[in-house]
Amino acid sequence: MESTRNQLINLLAENKHQYISGQILSEKLNISRSAVWKHMNELKKDGYSIEGVPKKGYRIIGFPAKVSENTLQWGLNTKWMGHTIIHKKTTSSTQLIMHELALENQKHGTVVVADKQLNGKGRMNRAWFSAENKGIWMSILLRPSISPHLAPQLTLLAATVLAEVISSFTELKVQIKWPNDILINRKKVAGILTEMQAEQDQIQYIVLGIGVNILQEKDDLPHELRSKATSLKLETSTEWDIRELIQAILVQFEKTYELYMDAGFSKIKRLWEYYGFKIGERILIKTLKEEWKAIFYGIAEDGALLVKNTDDSIEKIYSAEIDWFEENE
Ligand code: BTN
Repeated sequence: MESTRNQLINLLAENKHQYISGQILSEKLNISRSAVWKHMNELKKDGYSIEGVPKKGYRIIGFPAKVSENTLQWGLNTKWMGHTIIHKKTTSSTQLIMHELALENQKHGTVVVADKQLNGKGRMNRAWFSAENKGIWMSILLRPSISPHLAPQLTLLAATVLAEVISSFTELKVQIKWPNDILINRKKVAGILTEMQAEQDQIQYIVLGIGVNILQEKDDLPHELRSKATSLKLETSTEWDIRELIQAILVQFEKTYELYMDAGFSKIKRLWEYYGFKIGERILIKTLKEEWKAIFYGIAEDGALLVKNTDDSIEKIYSAEIDWFEENE
């Protein structure tokens, strides 16, 4: 059962272009008019901006900058992305929560977002530092009707979404390190973790985790990461609004996902290659078995890494880490 407070916020949000009288609110919520008034004062204390005009009623004119289900949905103009948003103050990992929800049949486009993760997960079983209100820690549930072997394309798609959003908010040059690290000035600002549940030829669901470092200062980053990681604030000296960035990512994600479903991967691939870090240059490729240097040739139609070896052969690689080095190394 939805709380009276949330019902009140929703009523105000649905009627944002008109005043809604205390009388109507009290009838709809089944509480007294003085209780409506008290709730309004509580909302104001929480940073909601509410205009009250005698004889007309109340109107909401602004939501607090803090992240919540309501503030994220306020003004979110999407067809399916983020129609269900679950916000946690603290959680172990939004990925874990989303796997549980997926098994309970939650729908495509559901979003779980947390202020803080105690056990944030990165790729290759690494930890992902997710300090409170310092970044975007969210997972998106996708139920694409594509073959499981094409799932890596969605990871690359997500990387282009982050690159596009960060580029649209800042003047910075954003690059994507294969497959999906987002770099600014060669330091990682965001990462993507894609986890899939599939059966033979069919994807049951994908949990696509997005982590973006936004408000960390140098001291907020763990020592061992300081030379390799950064945040939007460190790069721009600006206080970013996390809520606004989440909304922009959700809108851009939906748009790009629809483009992908309608027109296939080729446009996404081109966009990815536009942001691709070290394309055409020599890189170090590290797989579980070996390490070698080759030229980063581009990405294949299925999202794999293409490298050109010294014998001019083009090799397709599905699982590896890439690194770079000084040419005299
Ligand atoms: C990486 O680059 O290694 C991927 C990092 C992914 C981090 C995000 S934060 C939200 C979601 N929940 C997690 O535990 N991990 C992902």
